[in-house]
Amino acid sequence: MGTITVWLARSFSMNWTMRCLGISVLALTVWPSRAYSQPKPVDAEGHQWWQHAVFYELYPRSFADSNNDGIGDLNGITSKLDYLKSLGIDAIWLTPCYPSPQVDFGYDVSDYENIDAMYGTLQDFDRLASEAQKRGIKIIMDFVMNHSSDQHAWFKESRSSRDNPKRDWYMWRDGKGESQTPNNWISIFGGPAWKFDPTTGQWYYHFFYAEQPDLDWRNPEVEKAMFDVTRWWYKRGVAGFRLDAVDTLFENPDFKDNPVLPGKNAHGDPNMENRYNTKLPELHDVLRRLRVVADENNAVLIGETWTKDIEELKSYYGGHSNELQMPMDFLFARIDKLSAPEFRKQIAGVDAAGWPVYVLSNHDITRAYNRYGDGQHNDAIAKLMASLYLTLRGTPLMYYGEEIGMENNDPKRKEDVKDPVGKVGWPEDKGRDGERTPMQWKAAPNAGFSSTTPWLPVPTSYKTHNVHAELKDKASILNFYQRLLALRHAEPALLDGEYVALNEDDPNVLSYLRRYKAETVLVVLNMSGAGKKIRLDLKGNGSKASTLLSTQGRSKLVSVSSISLEPFGVFIGKMEQ
Ligand code: NOJ
Ligand code: CA
Repeated sequence: MGTITVWLARSFSMNWTMRCLGISVLALTVWPSRAYSQPKPVDAEGHQWWQHAVFYELYPRSFADSNNDGIGDLNGITSKLDYLKSLGIDAIWLTPCYPSPQVDFGYDVSDYENIDAMYGTLQDFDRLASEAQKRGIKIIMDFVMNHSSDQHAWFKESRSSRDNPKRDWYMWRDGKGESQTPNNWISIFGGPAWKFDPTTGQWYYHFFYAEQPDLDWRNPEVEKAMFDVTRWWYKRGVAGFRLDAVDTLFENPDFKDNPVLPGKNAHGDPNMENRYNTKLPELHDVLRRLRVVADENNAVLIGETWTKDIEELKSYYGGHSNELQMPMDFLFARIDKLSAPEFRKQIAGVDAAGWPVYVLSNHDITRAYNRYGDGQHNDAIAKLMASLYLTLRGTPLMYYGEEIGMENNDPKRKEDVKDPVGKVGWPEDKGRDGERTPMQWKAAPNAGFSSTTPWLPVPTSYKTHNVHAELKDKASILNFYQRLLALRHAEPALLDGEYVALNEDDPNVLSYLRRYKAETVLVVLNMSGAGKKIRLDLKGNGSKASTLLSTQGRSKLVSVSSISLEPFGVFIGKMEQ
């Protein structure tokens, strides 16, 4: 199992999720600079491009291996752009592919303005960007703001002497005493959040691994250097950033001890409330300034925003919608069971808060196929969940492989674990390898990802759940996703319509309208394992709907006063005028 474990799926008992909530249970081509431009709307309502787009998170290590070394790469991604286009994807978010010692598989960046040789070159990136552009697909990069690698030139300088000009780019402190850390803060990845460096006799702070020292965002030089990194990529054609670990940008300047809570976490550390090292208000000032740079480039900022409630999520949009355009709603993904009332409540909350950003899973969260699947109807449930978040008002962010029903392949033995989270947390926390396995392209060795043994093994389900087989099967999950995404792009009500909840007392079936001008789309989702008959009284919205997409054979015209749905069935129809 991966880390929604920890993250979400595993009942959120401890570790990551709790900690994220604040509790610890050219090639050298030179591009002309763009002139300042206000973001351009794409419709009369003033929507921006990212509000009409479907985003797709892609883990470069695991997508497609063009040179058969067992690790995915940029040329591999370029070779699959036609696939992504035919699926209905408008923007891809690449998790970090910058030079990195790979301690945290790229989230330890040693050069923010380059591509790691294992993934290719800057020329490969430029080719990917230009081929993507030809297909109308935008590229979002991952911005690892909170920390660099300890192998970054900045940190090497910083650690070299106490009076090095880069010393204050990171956080160095004296210990409380001989061999004693400066305070009681612990790393989310286990152990103290401080590492002693004998060269200068001081400790440096790292919220994540010791190889990921935190940058000091109180230092204006750090802000300037990091903002310049975004400008550098914008000039290369990047359309935005996913901001990693935004919660952790600032620390209390006095480095006060955090309150200790009862019990221990999976790493054996005391549970702790991360009061003084997460979610400090200063981070919002940085987000506002970073947004100005993004707006100058018609770019979007997506946040890795682990929030405890809607109010906190709301704060990331900014009081004047001047921070993140797309803070991800992990509260939605945290509902890890098929519960119509719980989804209804969460959707209503986030829909009122701003422009929702829905996510089902990612490289840190156990795949949705496993989290929601009941073991018997997993494919039907995968279609149901797709129908939910791809028909809501807001921007959906998919995770690669979700569209073919990829499942987690968690390590069976400790010695097979690659993710250090799993190495430290074993067996309670097996880490995140399970949700990062190679994309399943066909029923061939290594699922057609590579001709050599890949860095992580594919699950046996690749034989049935793969792109090649599913493209040929009208009843496949992939076929369903393609039709759903085509619908989402074609129906103005699905793009721009307001969300109207229906039958709000129904414990099993989630129904709603998407209404835009004279057009209304009805969505009915049976979240239970029993067949259901739904009676809707839509008053002024009509009594008949023509079927747009359904998981069961049905006539073209359906009376909304009596819709029968099979277990986990889906009905999406357009209301007749
Ligand atoms: C969140 C990323 O999604 C995760 O994979 C990484 O380990 C941490 N941030 C640290 O950068
Ligand atoms: Ca490769």
